[in-house]
Amino acid sequence: MSETVIGIDLGTTNSCVCVHLNNKLKILENKEGGRTTPSYVFFTEHSFIVGQYAKRMADAKPEYGIYEIKRLVGRKYDDPYVKKNLNYLPFKVTNISNEPVVVVQTKNQVLKKSPQELCAYILGKIKSDVEAKLGHPVDKAVITVPAYFNIAQREVTLAAAQTAGFSVLKLLNEPTAAALSYYYENKSNVDGYSLVYDLGGGTFDVAILQRSGSDITIVGVDGETHLGGHDFDNLLVEHVCQVLINQHNYNPKNDRRNMRRLNNECEEVKKILSEAEETNIILNAFVPNQNTVDIPITRAQFEAKAEQLFQKTIEIVTRCLEKVSLEKSDIKEVILSGGSTRIPKIQSLISAYFGGKILNKFINPDECVAEGAAIQAALLSKDPAQAISQIKITDVTPLSLGIADFVDVMTFMIKRNTPIPVTRTTNRVTVYNNQANMSFHIYEGERLDAKKNYFLGRLEITDLTPAPPGQCSVTVVMTVDQNGILTVKATETVSNRTKDLKIVYTRGSRSDSDIKSVVVEAEENKKEDELFKQFAEVKGYVVKYCIRAMYNFENKGLVATHKDAYDKCNDVLNRLKDLDVDDEKEVKKLKVEVLALCQPLQKKYAFKHMP
Ligand SMILES: Nc1ncnc2c1ncn2[C@@H]1O[C@H](COP(=O)(O)OP(=O)(O)OP(=O)(O)O)[C@@H](O)[C@H]1O
Ligand SMILES: [Mg+2]
Repeated sequence: MSETVIGIDLGTTNSCVCVHLNNKLKILENKEGGRTTPSYVFFTEHSFIVGQYAKRMADAKPEYGIYEIKRLVGRKYDDPYVKKNLNYLPFKVTNISNEPVVVVQTKNQVLKKSPQELCAYILGKIKSDVEAKLGHPVDKAVITVPAYFNIAQREVTLAAAQTAGFSVLKLLNEPTAAALSYYYENKSNVDGYSLVYDLGGGTFDVAILQRSGSDITIVGVDGETHLGGHDFDNLLVEHVCQVLINQHNYNPKNDRRNMRRLNNECEEVKKILSEAEETNIILNAFVPNQNTVDIPITRAQFEAKAEQLFQKTIEIVTRCLEKVSLEKSDIKEVILSGGSTRIPKIQSLISAYFGGKILNKFINPDECVAEGAAIQAALLSKDPAQAISQIKITDVTPLSLGIADFVDVMTFMIKRNTPIPVTRTTNRVTVYNNQANMSFHIYEGERLDAKKNYFLGRLEITDLTPAPPGQCSVTVVMTVDQNGILTVKATETVSNRTKDLKIVYTRGSRSDSDIKSVVVEAEENKKEDELFKQFAEVKGYVVKYCIRAMYNFENKGLVATHKDAYDKCNDVLNRLKDLDVDDEKEVKKLKVEVLALCQPLQKKYAFKHMP
């Protein structure tokens, strides 16, 4: 098997493949001769095609042509973002176990394809084209993903690659890839911070990198998983629909083929407006009983419609700078990547934002992500022909990861923006006497109140060694590997006996898919979180105290003798179940009451294991 490692940019709209060989970066053209491959799958009765022709066929038969799959990857069907996308995608998507599954009805069969399978088809074509081009099998790849892809989205991407026959050496964040390509091409440049502004078809990514010699560190990332060229297209589509409804009494929204045509037309017009000040949206044989509809549109009109979205990208840039405590003036270079950065208004907004800085357009916005992937691939390759002068690169976790304790306080194990790969360890002890199971709720987010974070999964250990409360301990090891994938492992350690326990890691669902809002929300709610923590600490203490006191009463045969104290503990435990953060006073009162009754007994009988 060949040692060649290729770099793949699996884009929302276009995919691109590159390889670093004999000191050169080379974009690998597909069989049709294209440097990028449209991320389209088109189904025929017995088979399917991928790429440029699939896109062409999809225009004619939209119900068989699947695209923008990346927008569905790793998401739940009930994710509002998925719902929003389903409004305009012309193919059918159904809900199977809360996963969005594409349905294609051919003449004789109903095909159901998950986003994972569809991505695998695209990667499958890429693989076969690359092998044809290089003349030997290729099964190792670096694949890029948006920096803000969550773990579920990363897992689906990996699984798709495996299905397509790739062993993935690393999932690389897209803006990091863009920066790598930039640094590679600009070897002579000075040290300092650069900012990558990557606006593609479906996602917006920002990354701030610091370079010092050959060392590159990603110091911060931010972005929006649903902001890109397609949103601009949709603004134009909406505009045309309104004109057609108002002036021609025709609403194309019920006609899939026309909507597909309109989408294509609007995308073309958008691109033309990057060159020309004005143009026309011309629709032939589109409106019933009308030969041609001609809708003039100017660049200024388009810019006005997209203004809010453009501004949003600037806000995200600001937030990313703030997060890492940098000033605009600290940024030495701004690197543009992604097809949508060809929009003149975007370029002028960013340049103005950075005080008239000349933007770096040296790299090709369609190819730089694949190039970066190829550089990373070369760094990982064992093939001498791929050798590359060493660039070191460090990546970070976009959000904090942790587990909830027994009163739902988030224990942050891996902090946001920690370089990965990373491993962190923590210890947990049992709460109850002879507690048999311990479960760990794993969360991603910044809130101290764990339940307000994004739930990733639950790991449960059963058959714990029987022990008094607090006396059986479990070590939890959390790892994020080079692909940004999280593994949690729990090991019970009682009387030097170590058990390896099975990891149960379920995919999370995020109804509010905006990771960035998590960070903002946490900042805005710092006070509330502090109050929660104070409350939870008292509550946690009282719970532990009561359970352990009751254990001692039982253990020492004192339940009957001190029934009032025993019952008090039991009552307090029951009361606590209904109390939340607003009842802090009440919890404190209960604490005083319990301690008043039990502390003298605790001393008198030398209670064990008390908190
Ligand atoms: N000249 C142009 N003017 C405006 N937009 C353009 C131009 N050229 C390309 N685009 C837009 O760029 C987008 C595609 O960019 P790109 O290929 O970088 O995205 P992608 O990598 O497929 O998506 P993502 O990175 O979001 O997954 C499309 O929306 C396309 O319309
Ligand atoms: Mg891209």
